[in-house]
Amino acid sequence: MKHGLVLDKVVLLGRTLDEYCRYFDFDPDGLRGEAILDVASGVSSFCAEANRAGLQVTACDPIYELPADDIRRRCGPDLDLVLGAVRGLKTYHWDFYRTPEHLRGFRERAYRTFLDDYQERGAERYRTGRLPTLPFADGQFDLTLVSYLLFAYEDQLDYELHKRSVLELMRVTRKEVRIYPTVTFEAVRSGHLDRLQEDPELGHLGLELVSTDFEFLVGSNNYLRVYRR
Ligand SMILES: C[S@@+](CC[C@H](N)C(=O)[O-])C[C@H]1O[C@@H](n2cnc3c(N)ncnc32)[C@H](O)[C@@H]1O
Repeated sequence: MKHGLVLDKVVLLGRTLDEYCRYFDFDPDGLRGEAILDVASGVSSFCAEANRAGLQVTACDPIYELPADDIRRRCGPDLDLVLGAVRGLKTYHWDFYRTPEHLRGFRERAYRTFLDDYQERGAERYRTGRLPTLPFADGQFDLTLVSYLLFAYEDQLDYELHKRSVLELMRVTRKEVRIYPTVTFEAVRSGHLDRLQEDPELGHLGLELVSTDFEFLVGSNNYLRVYRR
């Protein structure tokens, strides 16, 4: 029996720059001058806020084939679905967000900021792409981030997708890839992670868990760092 959040699709939920800093444990000032890619960026405001703060971020997601109004129409219902479902679950720590209502404020701020920037900057900043294939050149970015797609949606995305995605993310990245979280919505370590770490076809890569001090989904206080050995 499931104890955590049960979703039958990948939802359109967006986080803010502040949340990305906590998930991936970075200080934006330390990333100045780096070419950063956010994959599965969806309606997150990370790209918009980070560029406004002087960073160089490109976002990539399948939904960027859609006009802003179509994306906007999905944001409210997906947010209502998740907020209705997480209430009372034992798989979340509420010390940071306090209540579902307070969490709603973060998510609404994220998608509204995203939508404004998406309408203004379009394809220059927001590129359509779906893992395990990315529309970028080899080594185009210094750092690539993936938040709340791989591992979390283990039930919907199989091992082959994860493996091909890690190889593709590393193809377009010069330095390192960071993936968050490494647990599923059941708040258990993803089984795909163990297989990736043991897969001989990924033997040229280091896959290391890096601890952080942020934990909403239980067990999500680390990210996976992938680098070339
Ligand atoms: C829960 S949202 C996460 C958004 C953002 N990364 C964040 O943490 O705020 C998941 C996103 O993954 C996107 N997505 C679904 N399948 C994908 C795939 N195969 N490759 C890349 N993105 C995908 C969805 O369109 C959606 O925007």
